[in-house]
Amino acid sequence: MCGIVAYVGEKNAIPIMIEGLKRLEYRGYDSSGLAIFDENNDVKIYKKEGKIVELERHVSHVMTKYSPTVGISHTRWATHGVVSEVNAHPFCDSEGKMALAHNGIIENYKDLKTNLIAKGYEFKSDTDTEVLVHLIHYYYQQDKDLMKSLKQALKAVEGTYGIAILHKDYPGQILSAKKGSTLILAIGNDEFFLTSDINATIKHTKKVIYLEDGDIVKLTKEGYEITNSQNILINPEISEIDWDISAIDKGKYKHFMLKEIYEQPTSVLNAFRGRLAEDLYTVRLGGLSQNYADLRNVKRIQILACGTSWHAALTGKYIIENLTRIPVDAEYASEYRYRNPIVPDDTLVFVISQSGETADTLAALKEARAKGAKVFGITNVVGSAIARETDGGVYIHAGSEVGVASTKAFTSQVTVLVLLAILLGRMRHMSPTDGLTHLEELKKLPEKIEKILTQNDHIREISKKIANSHNALYLGRGVDYPVALEGALKLKEISYIHAEGYPAAEMKHGPIALIDENMPVIAIASKDFLYDKLVSNLQEVKSRKGKIYAVANEGDTLIGTIAEEVVYVPETLPALRPILNVIPLQLIAYHVADLKGLDVDQPRNLAKSVTVE
Ligand code: G6P
Repeated sequence: MCGIVAYVGEKNAIPIMIEGLKRLEYRGYDSSGLAIFDENNDVKIYKKEGKIVELERHVSHVMTKYSPTVGISHTRWATHGVVSEVNAHPFCDSEGKMALAHNGIIENYKDLKTNLIAKGYEFKSDTDTEVLVHLIHYYYQQDKDLMKSLKQALKAVEGTYGIAILHKDYPGQILSAKKGSTLILAIGNDEFFLTSDINATIKHTKKVIYLEDGDIVKLTKEGYEITNSQNILINPEISEIDWDISAIDKGKYKHFMLKEIYEQPTSVLNAFRGRLAEDLYTVRLGGLSQNYADLRNVKRIQILACGTSWHAALTGKYIIENLTRIPVDAEYASEYRYRNPIVPDDTLVFVISQSGETADTLAALKEARAKGAKVFGITNVVGSAIARETDGGVYIHAGSEVGVASTKAFTSQVTVLVLLAILLGRMRHMSPTDGLTHLEELKKLPEKIEKILTQNDHIREISKKIANSHNALYLGRGVDYPVALEGALKLKEISYIHAEGYPAAEMKHGPIALIDENMPVIAIASKDFLYDKLVSNLQEVKSRKGKIYAVANEGDTLIGTIAEEVVYVPETLPALRPILNVIPLQLIAYHVADLKGLDVDQPRNLAKSVTVE
């Protein structure tokens, strides 16, 4: 949600920043802007409403005119103030000497704004960010020391920020500060970058410093100086990224989402690779190994997350409870953080987040910690705020996920939750045979996913029948219920068709009133002890002329007589079913959106990392 790219070095900063912003476009794509020094060291700001390509067109003449070697840039996802050029970043001070780009939220901006207006400052935008430039300007008037002014301003500010600043009196320099919002310093050869995500800079360098809250960075092409929250000059460890640019290219695929759906045989494999301890019929999770005693003694688990990650959490509840008999609550992080949650003794809390940045999840983590709980993370982005804040955890190793609608992260999160369930189960009553059966089935998943993907053409045909609908209902039972929720979420996120997921038996308590010939019902009809009951629910749909599209198991001969269309998926153990069953639903959502000609990877109003409440 909002992204920053800043550059200092010897090359032309503009194309580097534009390309970087395009890599961060998943974080915000309603407007963007950049600031540079011109040949007189005047600060020039260029902004544009719309996608980055609009900004690129807008600055094309600047690139040919001069070649600035220092710049800051920003892509916005509107929080305060409508989408407009005026509200786009960077912002400048009243003298036009300073430019500032900000990711995060200034929570006390109203009070600060009132004070600044009383001092004579005029505001051009409706954003919270603009208070920062005026506040820094206000202090700068007093002793003309930019670093000091920045620190004074930040003391007055409540909220979160990753910021980058240019100032005419400091040509060749970028000042930056971080609190709450991710900001990374990427270190190249005689060039440096600041970025909200290494996707933007991985092409240039794999060396990065993950800045900590309270860090302030002074950056010139000669090098960087970092002071921490105690105002001490520090020399943080430089990390080396272990993947490269090819991981974030669309390759042969039309959209990132489709590519990411197709990556699942590998991403699921990567989630369990090296973690199966077949000699002991259990799993090894290195990031939790220091805490095995806690896992052994745990009496209750709370899993906190948002969006698709919350669907993984709910799936995890079914899986863990079933395999371990430990009670599990799956909670929306946004609710948990404010409802003064009860965290009994011997409770372990897990937070799930693909990005590791979601503000509500981070805040819920801190709330659980404040209650004295140990909190573990299940995250994708290495070094992310949530990954670093937890007491341990498990990376899902799904690789970079760019499509705003999460796909491979979900299946990898569920895979890790299965591993966790096996680990906890084997610490309790789960037999070696049962443990081994799960390990063996896990190993078969990549091949089974491949098999589902070969039905892509058929699924596109099914999607044509759904694409003109205004509503859709997704039904599942047991562990397939969260999968129904996830299928519905995928459809609404990218195709803008209203969709709901329901436990199939609940249909008769409301949604059945909506069923007619215009209502597609997508049913997950796994062959298990609830199958007959689900089929009865589907008969109820059929007798009201609802159109049924089913995901069912290979060899099921009955379902084809009820449903219009069926996607057959291989059978597996109940705990692993969601990983297979969700894939046709991801593909349906993808194809419906694509058939409607919509922007699959950047659906309207959504952001991939939601770093505000
Ligand atoms: C946003 C994204 C979703 C994601 C959710 C939670 O809403 O659009 O795809 O599931 O945030 O994100 P996280 O990074 O915490 O998993």
